[in-house]
Amino acid sequence: MVLSSVEATASGAAAAVDPGLDRCFELPADRLSPNRNLAPITTRLDALGALEVGGCQLSELAHRYGTPLYVLDEATLRATCQAYRQALERFYPGPSLALYASKANSSLAIAALVAAEGLGLDAVSAGELLTALGGGMPPERIVLHGNNKSAEELELAVSSGVTVVVDNWHDIELLAAMVPALGARARLLLRFTPGIECHTHEYIRTGHLDSKFGFDPDQLEAVLRHLAACPWADLDGLHAHIGSQIFELEPHRDLAAVLADALQLARSLGHGCADLNVGGGLGIRYVAGDDPPSIQDWVRTVAEAVVAACSERGLALPRLLCEPGRSLVATAGVTLYTVGSRKEIAGLRTYLSVDGGMSDNPRPITYQSLYTAVLADRPQAEASETVTVAGKHCESGDVLFKDLALPPAASGDVLAVFGTGAYNASMSSNYNRIPRPAAVLVRDGVADLVQRREQPEDLLRYDVLPSRLSPLS
Ligand code: LLP
Repeated sequence: MVLSSVEATASGAAAAVDPGLDRCFELPADRLSPNRNLAPITTRLDALGALEVGGCQLSELAHRYGTPLYVLDEATLRATCQAYRQALERFYPGPSLALYASKANSSLAIAALVAAEGLGLDAVSAGELLTALGGGMPPERIVLHGNNKSAEELELAVSSGVTVVVDNWHDIELLAAMVPALGARARLLLRFTPGIECHTHEYIRTGHLDSKFGFDPDQLEAVLRHLAACPWADLDGLHAHIGSQIFELEPHRDLAAVLADALQLARSLGHGCADLNVGGGLGIRYVAGDDPPSIQDWVRTVAEAVVAACSERGLALPRLLCEPGRSLVATAGVTLYTVGSRKEIAGLRTYLSVDGGMSDNPRPITYQSLYTAVLADRPQAEASETVTVAGKHCESGDVLFKDLALPPAASGDVLAVFGTGAYNASMSSNYNRIPRPAAVLVRDGVADLVQRREQPEDLLRYDVLPSRLSPLS
């Protein structure tokens, strides 16, 4: 089967037939590593040639739930969870746990699914933490991150039995003032910047030295000595994260050596440090030209590097933790939009406007991110037009696709955008007072609403009109 052209390339030119998407429809190509697929593993064409995911026809979902609509494929999400678990069990001889980085997409339903698959979770705020706990994630499998945690967030974590990833001296001061009074001990990981560069977008590099996250490596010994003298603190391990949407394996290999050096130092100062947390960062395939490593290759590289680095230093193997976000949920997500207005500028450009945009997916305007899309009802029709797909916000840069090859599309057609399961809903906004979309979880032909659509009236909920300004006063 050959599908129509669906991709906007980096150069802005429309690409021809997309073999990657084709594979996804046909095979569920890389079932073991869905981060290498463009579409969810359950993506199929029905008898009429319309797209379905999780056994649900996408345009039917659009009509039933309205658009924009986030669709999440349960099978893909479970497959990525299982891929991480199985690869860790296969390639790492010690204990291990993958923690889902819930900043990628935080909801009760996702937390519940990830917990049921046996993973843990990384939260970075009280909101993400409450969502995880509300979804049934056991507190002992949760870590709380953040470069500026509030006292309230720290207290919630410690009193719930969640591990705190200490990021700076401020965290330590707040904890020292609180933990003894709570009559508790705090389980801690310590985060430092590993000083590893990797080739990804400038905004999403966190491992280099000029980073707001974690202790500078120069401070490591001082903070380890300080914590060794804190009776309220149990330092369970060390953490570092080098960035996101990374296709290279080498930086992750380098990270293992940097972490093992720090582990050696920590243990020599009397810390048990049973855990080594290597962060997340594995990329996904947004467009056909992307070629990320598989989850297996990533885990194998990390696991082998940690084993080698520990044995070189004579260290007992730590429990290996990692924090995948994007590679766990992105491919499971599809966003549906309805096409509305059309503007043709002769000899220049044709704008197709959809009913969402930068408020439900801020990644194109923020990072110039590329995506893959098709018309949900006729993905195989000849892509004879090149269009610019614009959002509905009052901002010229609110463009989801610059040059997208599509079959002629009319008002009412449903556009399906792939790879939107990570950093779309979680980074959404109400710009222009546009309500956030609903989200549905699909599986075996059944769609469950997992996030209700916001209503315009919801957006007034927290406004307060002082009585002296009230038109009735
Ligand atoms: N652990 C830590 C400490 C992190 O800071 C992050 C991501 C992760 C894990 C998960 O990384 P992942 O596996 O998703 O690459 N908004 C950006 C991505 C920001 C990532 C921030 N930290 C985007 O839309 O591309």
